[in-house]
Amino acid sequence: MELFVAVISGYLVGSVSFGIILTKLLRGVDIRQYGSGNTGMTNVMRTIGKGPAMLVLLGDALKGAVSVGIGLSLGSTVYAVIAGLAAMAGHTYPLFHGFRGGRGVATGFGVILTLTPDVTLIALSIFLLTVFLSRYVSLGSILAALSVPLTMTILQKPLPILLFGVLGAGFVIYRHKANIKRLVNGTEYKVGEK
Ligand code: G3P
Repeated sequence: MELFVAVISGYLVGSVSFGIILTKLLRGVDIRQYGSGNTGMTNVMRTIGKGPAMLVLLGDALKGAVSVGIGLSLGSTVYAVIAGLAAMAGHTYPLFHGFRGGRGVATGFGVILTLTPDVTLIALSIFLLTVFLSRYVSLGSILAALSVPLTMTILQKPLPILLFGVLGAGFVIYRHKANIKRLVNGTEYKVGEK
């Protein structure tokens, strides 16, 4: 029963896409038809502006944190990890928005921030440094995602958390396949570019 509640609640919470809702409310547009087509902070910043982008980041990260909270209230870190993964799946394939959503970075960030802040701090530093040096947000996300299971291994995190690191990072990197192609072709958007 707990497993079922973790999966369903995580998926439903994740399915609320702040990027889609906010851009619809503020501009009457579907963010998925602009820029990279992504629903996350980066594309909202590119398309609408910084303020709404920050709200989207906060909302999407909160979905991860809330899902972990629900999972923990069910009695174990395993449920928290499952709810967190389900939230990332919901964010990416949202029930309420035709199953077309984002890449899961901010929601995954909310999950690890709640479960393991030290690992998150390192990933965030790698993200910020990469974006500062390269001006590619996607490259920052990919390298930060890669760092998560590595840091978890080095810091000897419990197995369920390490499992989240491996699966979550793999999922985020897989969802960046269009970005990876653009990075290789030299056509990826840089910060500030439309
Ligand atoms: O979190 C998503 C980011 O890494 C890339 O966003 O819109 O450039 O595909 P975007």
